[in-house]
Amino acid sequence: MMGADFHFRDKVQVGILGATGSVGQKLVQMLARHPWFMINALAASERSVGKKYKDCVHWLMPTLLPQELAEMEVSACQPGLPCRVVFSGLDSSVAGEIETQFAEAGYIVISNSRNHRMDPDVPLLIPEVNLSHLELIQFQQFPKGKIITNPNCSVIGLAMALKPLFDRFGLEAVHAVTMQAISGAGYPGVASLDIQDNIIPFIQSEEEKVETELLKILGKFQDGKIDPCSFKISAQCNRVPVSDGHTACVSVKLKSKATEQDLIEAWDAFSGAPEIVKLPTAPEKPLYYFHENYYPQPKLHRLIDKGMAVSIGRLRKCPLFDFKFTLLSHNTVRGAAGGAILNAEILLRQGQIFW
Ligand SMILES: NC(=O)c1ccc[n+]([C@@H]2O[C@H](COP(=O)([O-])OP(=O)(O)OC[C@H]3O[C@@H](n4cnc5c(N)ncnc54)[C@H](OP(=O)(O)O)[C@@H]3O)[C@@H](O)[C@H]2O)c1
Repeated sequence: MMGADFHFRDKVQVGILGATGSVGQKLVQMLARHPWFMINALAASERSVGKKYKDCVHWLMPTLLPQELAEMEVSACQPGLPCRVVFSGLDSSVAGEIETQFAEAGYIVISNSRNHRMDPDVPLLIPEVNLSHLELIQFQQFPKGKIITNPNCSVIGLAMALKPLFDRFGLEAVHAVTMQAISGAGYPGVASLDIQDNIIPFIQSEEEKVETELLKILGKFQDGKIDPCSFKISAQCNRVPVSDGHTACVSVKLKSKATEQDLIEAWDAFSGAPEIVKLPTAPEKPLYYFHENYYPQPKLHRLIDKGMAVSIGRLRKCPLFDFKFTLLSHNTVRGAAGGAILNAEILLRQGQIFW
């Protein structure tokens, strides 16, 4: 078990697969000064292999690219990278196979892609919500490697906001309409002429991901597997002209009676286990409830608590279900890179990266 004597000189060497993409860049930005991890390999497609990172990345982060990373040569996404952990921001057309190869070769794979999320022995992890699901990695068949995934970027805010309601009142039905940021489509993503002055009412496979991943995340770990929960869920996903931050309008039907104040108290009291709260990337508070009618807004609230918290507001009675509210989470931070890094931090803290 990792203790308080964990020092700078002990940094764990990590690699980033898909380092040139939207999620890959956010991983580079967030890991560049991480107290526990040190980037030792950047990998991407054949288009980038052999080039200096600065020459093949279209750097879109609002911070300078550190010199040593700018000069690093981009590798192929093949085992042999000089690191123990790989973070994957790979396109889903290739992520499944490449991540399996790395796990078979003994790497700890922390993935943002959809490919392994629903595998029965792979945790779909949000540490504050379902830490017990991490036990699944014992059942993976790789000789030394492991795969851990984080949820789809539109699912993470929903899962975090619904968890305290699910635990306290039970859920019978959930209806969610999302308004998802352009950066969720990667780079270059949606053409500017398609998205400016517009809303696109379709995101490939997104509604199915919301409707399946959420049930696994809130499911119970028992007898070595996840028993998914069974409430009804319907999602409608839209792409909107916002740069970062996914918003969702949600209606819920609860199993037991509750007041608006009960829901706000449940959100307010929600917190991860003490071991999570102290992790470098963990938010101080996972959920913030705003009483102002005009909140939450992506431009104002997506970076609250390092972009790792979920903002909620506009709670009121719903004439169809019991209650409705609005939530917001940062799709490339909490919904991707930051969520992945938090997963790696809890693994390291629990002593599961070296054994
Ligand atoms: N954007 C989000 O908000 C978000 C949130 C959660 C999860 N995700 C998931 O995270 C993953 C990455 O998303 P993204 O938005 O960052 O996509 P992206 O901007 O399109 O980046 C894709 C990355 O994959 C690499 N790649 C593509 N084909 C490859 C191949 N054949 N071999 C090796 N590398 C290859 C690209 O390298 P080159 O530059 O060399 O082509 C690039 O680094 C996806 O699975 C996505 O579903 C995204």
